[in-house]
Amino acid sequence: MKSEIKLFENGKRLDGRMPDELRNIKIKAGVLHRAEGSCYLEWGGNKVMVAVYGPREAIPRHTQNPLRAIVTARYNMAAFSVDDRKRPGPDRRSREISKVISEALENVILVEKFPRATIDVNIEVLDAEAGTRCAGLTAAAVALVDAGIPMKDIPVSCAAGKIEDQIVLDLGKDEDNYGSADLPIAISPRTGDVLLLQMDGHLTQEEFDKAFDLALKGCHIISDLQKKAILETYQSESGGD
Ligand code: CDP
Repeated sequence: MKSEIKLFENGKRLDGRMPDELRNIKIKAGVLHRAEGSCYLEWGGNKVMVAVYGPREAIPRHTQNPLRAIVTARYNMAAFSVDDRKRPGPDRRSREISKVISEALENVILVEKFPRATIDVNIEVLDAEAGTRCAGLTAAAVALVDAGIPMKDIPVSCAAGKIEDQIVLDLGKDEDNYGSADLPIAISPRTGDVLLLQMDGHLTQEEFDKAFDLALKGCHIISDLQKKAILETYQSESGGD
């Protein structure tokens, strides 16, 4: 798709970022009292709250797996999170995002430790400005750590894409609307395993490789922010040591 608006000015993007720059990200772990684990994350104009419950017995019983826990991520956009008020409740898009996030998390959580259990991850998007699946998954990972759920690694997610024939990191709203491709990924930063990879639009093999490498770079930067947020919560709870 050809851009209908100018997405670059003097080599910089509409919001002043360089092609390889992320939007600002703030992460806070352990913000909700009733959930077993929680995280609040701001990523550019996105605001996301995640609450984790479990592991607890999966009900109804026919949903149980006798060998491992099931992981149910539920991605929900608040009606007020987008410009045109969104009709409340699940739709095709939120079902798709819930599914890919559930599958990504299932691959890092030590699910064999909790047969017949369910681990529920509620992702509420309060404000949306492109990249909410990455924001949701990144926040879910921190909330799972906060809940004490054992995982092989702390997963992390980030996207890269193409606007005006350039590969850029972390598309903003206009870039998502008027750009030509978006490539969200999620990885296990320690092993480099890919947990999620989707592509919207068209990229050549060369562009794909470049976008993938850039998204990986973003993932590693955000991974450090996740760890910092977790340390901040637990260091302040234990009196700052
Ligand atoms: O949010 P993400 O980039 O993961 O998914 P998307 O389906 O590519 O959506 C991109 C953006 O479109 C969202 O982040 C929202 O800002 C916006 N959107 C919207 O305005 N209304 C919707 N019903 C769905 C998405």
